[in-house]
Amino acid sequence: MKDFGYDVADYTDVDPLFGNLATFDRLLADIHARGLRVIVDYVPNHTSDQHAWFTDSRSSRTSPRRDWYVWRDPKPDGSPPNNWISVFGGSAWAWDDASGQFYLHSFLAEQPDLDWRNPEVKAAMFDVLRFWLDRGVDGFRIDVAQFVAKDPLLRDNPPNPHPERMAHMGDWSQQLHLYDHGHPDVHEIYREFRALLDSYPGDRVSIGELHHEQFEVWAGFYGQNLDEIHVPFNFHLLFSPWDATEVRCIVDAVEAALPAGAWPNWVLGNHDQRRLASRIGDGQARVAMLLLLTLRGTPTIYYGDELGLPNAEIRPDQVRDPWGLVEPGQGRDPGRSPMPWDGSPNGAFTTPDVDPWLPLAPGHETTNVALQREDPASLLSMTRRLLDLRRGHPALAEGVHRSMDGTPDGTFCFVRSIDGSEGAPAVLVALNLTGEPRRVELDPGTGRVIEGTHPDRLGVTVDTASVDLRPDEGLVIELTAR
Ligand code: NOJ
Repeated sequence: MKDFGYDVADYTDVDPLFGNLATFDRLLADIHARGLRVIVDYVPNHTSDQHAWFTDSRSSRTSPRRDWYVWRDPKPDGSPPNNWISVFGGSAWAWDDASGQFYLHSFLAEQPDLDWRNPEVKAAMFDVLRFWLDRGVDGFRIDVAQFVAKDPLLRDNPPNPHPERMAHMGDWSQQLHLYDHGHPDVHEIYREFRALLDSYPGDRVSIGELHHEQFEVWAGFYGQNLDEIHVPFNFHLLFSPWDATEVRCIVDAVEAALPAGAWPNWVLGNHDQRRLASRIGDGQARVAMLLLLTLRGTPTIYYGDELGLPNAEIRPDQVRDPWGLVEPGQGRDPGRSPMPWDGSPNGAFTTPDVDPWLPLAPGHETTNVALQREDPASLLSMTRRLLDLRRGHPALAEGVHRSMDGTPDGTFCFVRSIDGSEGAPAVLVALNLTGEPRRVELDPGTGRVIEGTHPDRLGVTVDTASVDLRPDEGLVIELTAR
């Protein structure tokens, strides 16, 4: 629990904090009985330093598992073998006094990197996949998926001429990460990974946690023949300024970069970033949810974003995230606060007499599931309606995407339609990403508002030649066939 589960000491068991394998099997069966699926987080790049593989590897230079991890001699002056830095700050190399070598850790020193160039490591880690697939899980979210392939020569990374573009990464932004992850050999690993997944019956999904600024490199993780990762997480909007032109450029670039037949996906929040509503404001959080759920492809909703949960306020003595402890200010705790199920003191996340692991986000007395469920105007209610809508509406479920040109600054409009189908109505999505009113003028035609950020618009007929969007407003308009 040095990195809250991302430091695994045993890949084929459950941390006693959460129960045991029998608890897991019960959970899986109960969830499946409700028609839901279970995806487990798979952490291939590093183990815990408590893992038996590492204690064995560390025990001596001649240990049979020595080369399961990346051990290297110091440079002649005693310094680390290269200039790589840990994502959490400081050198990526830790010195082991007993055996007189450095080991590589791309994250905490307590998270030593496995060496996937060693076939025994790959075989052992593929056995881990089989273990959970045999138990019936529906797929894996692959932690830092790109990191398993590094430069075999362990060359130094060059400095980053534009660290400000990666400011959210703290110290790590100082280098261009050419060599410490994402070596092209990574694709072979995920082709084999996929083949293993596909050898199991039923639908099993792979979701890769990975990012690359270049859209083509990112899209490469689908595989040239769509034979790698089903869902390479698309974090491009997550890391973009909330600006209509930027958002449109990203959506178009993603659509253009996808290999033929690839299914897009979109992410606006996760446990490593600040909360969406705090990043872009309450009004825009609704617009963003409307965008997320009307774009083509699979959306990922981070828990709490469907309520518009803000960042939690974390006092220095409440910091838990190791990154925040190493690099003050980088802590991810503000986005990891308990889910507020109701307005009671601990939001029904835990009993009122217990101190939850992090404080609740401010305002949970009014921003909680129980209240928003009853309020048709709430973000939660809008989210649930949108989820229903996209399931039932062919254009939203499967339609192609076309961004509209010529709309005013601060707006983004697009049409989703089923190519070549006369019967299925197309849908126009019109978004105002500003706090000012905007008028959008498209070709004349009529449509009916079937969802929106402001419930008073539901059912209203609009003329697409002139659509007045209020501040922070988004509309989903079903176009009338002509
Ligand atoms: C990515 C995870 O999302 C993050 O929470 C974790 O700290 C690192 N990988 C290390 O496993």
